[in-house]
Amino acid sequence: VSRAVVVVAAGSGTRLGIGDAKAFVPVAGERMLTRAVRTVFTLAEPTFVVVVAPTARLDECRALVAAVAGPAAALTSVVAGGADRHASVQAGLDALPDGIEWVGVHDAARCLTPAAQFAAVFERAETTGDGVVPALPVTDTVKRVEGDLVVETVDRSALVGVQTPQVFPLRALRDAYAAAQRSETDDAGVFRAAGGVVRTVPGHADAFKITTRWDLARAEAIVADSAL
Ligand code: CTP
Ligand code: MG
Repeated sequence: VSRAVVVVAAGSGTRLGIGDAKAFVPVAGERMLTRAVRTVFTLAEPTFVVVVAPTARLDECRALVAAVAGPAAALTSVVAGGADRHASVQAGLDALPDGIEWVGVHDAARCLTPAAQFAAVFERAETTGDGVVPALPVTDTVKRVEGDLVVETVDRSALVGVQTPQVFPLRALRDAYAAAQRSETDDAGVFRAAGGVVRTVPGHADAFKITTRWDLARAEAIVADSAL
């Protein structure tokens, strides 16, 4: 296989506030990590999956991934995460087998991301040779402020919000992480800082990141809706 997805799932979910690591929190009866990993295994192109899990839950995570992967279990690996997302991505990149050329980095917390979004981002990356991120227009009016003072309205037409998976040529992403001067929560930021070109493809509303209780309720509503 030449494609891999690193699913980062080692966060604690502080803002969600459930008292369990976020990736293990169920959305309409099924854990976020299960949902996220299963989508990768529906892709037509065979894809290696590295799950980056909380150190204390590696065995539990291995069982979960094996159950979802079925016959594709040989194409999976579960490794321990780090203190922040940057360190967890680094751990995932370190765990990739030889032969991988394209890697997608994906948040387990974006567990409703459609398979078509994975396909589109990989496709565009492989065609252009660049990094590719899914992006959506910003819908709120955005202001630049200093303290509580509004300085100006920022031109929204030049802004997007970015999602995951973000796909990169593996060697260049590894080099970018090796050269990174500071911890970043955005892989495209690390890649750009090292001089890489990053393009966008259209994202999808369902690929939002579950961060708060409200996001969890929204995810459950989407699942309920799609079951109709
Ligand atoms: N993540 C990770 N390792 C970390 C921190 C975050 O793998 N040390 C992962 C999370 O599991 C999540 C993704 O990065 O899938 C995005 O992070 P975020 O939404 O911030 O999740 P948490 O860090 O778990 O949430 P919070 O910041 O509210 O604690
Ligand atoms: Mg976090």
